[in-house]
Amino acid sequence: MNNFEFQTVPHLISESGAASRCGDIIRKYYPEARHVLVVTDTGFLKTGLVQPALDNIKSQQIQVSVFSDVIADPPEAVVLQAVANARKLGIDLVVGLGGGSSMDVAKLIAVLAGSEQPLSTMYGIGNVKGERLPLIQIPTTAGTGSEVTPISIVTTGNTTKMGVVAPQLYADIAILDATLTTGLPAKVTAATGIDAMVHAIEAYTTRHKKNPISDMLARQALKLLWNNIDQACSNGSNLAARQAMLVGAMMAGQSFANAPCAAVHALAYPIGGIFHVPHGLSNSLVLPHVLRFNAPAAAELYAELAEIIAPEAMGSAEARSNALITAMEDLAERTGIETRLTQVGVTESDLDRLAADAMLQTRLLGNNPREVSLADARAIYAAAL
Ligand SMILES: NC(=O)c1ccc[n+]([C@@H]2O[C@H](COP(=O)([O-])OP(=O)(O)OC[C@H]3O[C@@H](n4cnc5c(N)ncnc54)[C@H](O)[C@@H]3O)[C@@H](O)[C@H]2O)c1
Ligand SMILES: [Fe+2]
Repeated sequence: MNNFEFQTVPHLISESGAASRCGDIIRKYYPEARHVLVVTDTGFLKTGLVQPALDNIKSQQIQVSVFSDVIADPPEAVVLQAVANARKLGIDLVVGLGGGSSMDVAKLIAVLAGSEQPLSTMYGIGNVKGERLPLIQIPTTAGTGSEVTPISIVTTGNTTKMGVVAPQLYADIAILDATLTTGLPAKVTAATGIDAMVHAIEAYTTRHKKNPISDMLARQALKLLWNNIDQACSNGSNLAARQAMLVGAMMAGQSFANAPCAAVHALAYPIGGIFHVPHGLSNSLVLPHVLRFNAPAAAELYAELAEIIAPEAMGSAEARSNALITAMEDLAERTGIETRLTQVGVTESDLDRLAADAMLQTRLLGNNPREVSLADARAIYAAAL
């Protein structure tokens, strides 16, 4: 077995309705808190689901401000604006309340609000210096697992996505509350749920940091996500299915935080960056094609995961690995999300640029079970067209 380290968020609360007692939780664990910033996006703010959390914070005589200008795949400018805002207000605790985009911005606010270090020097692994403000994360999608990862993804320039990866980005508390996710549209539920499943699959087959705790989490995550995604899509108000999805996505997040993602994410990022395709959907579009490319190096491990999502599969590792890939393809088909790159506006003439951009994702590609060349990346995109 490899030597390994495993880190995660120290305090998890999984309870439908818990967000509406967020102020009580803050008062209990941060009795000194005076002014909380809740970070969300306009779309989620409009659902009205932020209000109970705000009311409960106020009921504890804690001042609360809202930053709701987060946009999907947050650009650097939004982060910098949010930080300036937080400094001006004198914030002393940050709550991320939204999807991965809001939680990623919340992490950087917590780090940057009390620091002189420029954001531009934080990209990459382990480049954040100093402490951060207390940070509570409350996901509203069962997808990214950002509530338990030390990663923040920012769109730099027009199209490139860069990651800040540092232990300071682990939150203090993550609250999983399914009542926040019941209104998530079926297609967003499907795409974000598949993102979470990709986290589990890529963590399980990661090249350098595979470890038994991440493996255990990835398997359990996949089981929860697979067993509940159809119900969460077709009957969005099923709280039990929604809570199971949140726990599954969180466990996948814990898994890949310590056994990092690979080529599916590397090839998904340029699709998101250039064509403004949501993160989960970008992953789903390339997933089967990357898995087929990886199979010669990873079939044994894919076959182990097939025990969870295609238990009827028999025969060789290759056959069971194929069953996993087909099951994921069928899932995307039946949830009605796009399954071909052409459906999101990609044409043959874009493939060179996509492949060149994917090759810049060296942080991710280095974890892939099989080496990916520029020609390989182009061929994978061509297969996904
Ligand atoms: N930090 C990490 O570890 C990590 C991992 C994977 C992805 N990411 C990043 O996370 C971002 C994607 O996050 P995401 O997929 O959660 O989507 P998102 O946060 O971008 O939100 C997508 C849309 O869904 C809406 N929405 C969110 N929750 C809702 C709800 N409960 N009801 C109704 N509408 C709701 C939002 O308003 C938004 O319009 C990307 O920037 C991606 O790069 C981060
Ligand atoms: Fe992801």
